[in-house]
Amino acid sequence: MIIAIDGFAASGKGTLATILAERLGYARLDTGLIYRATGLGVLEAGGDPENPDDALAAAESLTPALLEDGRLREPAVTAAAYKVAAQTPVRDALRRFQKDFAANPPGGAPGAILDGRDIGTVICPDADVKLFVSADVEIRAKRRFEELQSQGKTDTYPAVLQAMKDRDASDAENTVPADDAVHLDTTALTIDQVVEKALSIIEARRTS
Ligand code: DC
Repeated sequence: MIIAIDGFAASGKGTLATILAERLGYARLDTGLIYRATGLGVLEAGGDPENPDDALAAAESLTPALLEDGRLREPAVTAAAYKVAAQTPVRDALRRFQKDFAANPPGGAPGAILDGRDIGTVICPDADVKLFVSADVEIRAKRRFEELQSQGKTDTYPAVLQAMKDRDASDAENTVPADDAVHLDTTALTIDQVVEKALSIIEARRTS
């Protein structure tokens, strides 16, 4: 069983993927970490994330251990990730890693959940279940703002909202729902409600 979950930043797809993986006992791959690890790899090597050779070299030397690095969510790494993710050769190089995970979920898990931007369209076009998670940009910015506040960060809401709009613009090309994806708008839903909806969609597919 392969479950593809796509959506824009802070749509709730990561939280949903984590909870579904726990409930179903499936292996989960947060594919954003792959791009982040590639961005970090370029920075570590003293390269430029916008340089195609530097970015491709980092993508080609990605290992699962790099996905555990504690620096992957630092702002400099986030910025580098966006730059490498915009390059087609990098995306092509990272496709194999993601497809292997889906085909052979680690630990012999009976299923895989991959969340990102292009899972249902490019990485796993034959996924058993495809979800596209969305929420209004103001709500996504509010969620991110509250998350930052809980970490003691001082970013203002207008700054977070603007950053979210900038991220959406740079992600837009690679964040397209698959034709057969089920859309889950989380704007007015709690995470429990989102999980229940997703589980009923998955259950319907499992028994069909
Ligand atoms: O979801 P995130 O913020 O961790 O993603 C980090 C970067 O990787 C961001 O630029 C979006 C990009 N990304 C992508 O292009 N395709 C994916 N499947 C996942 C993430």
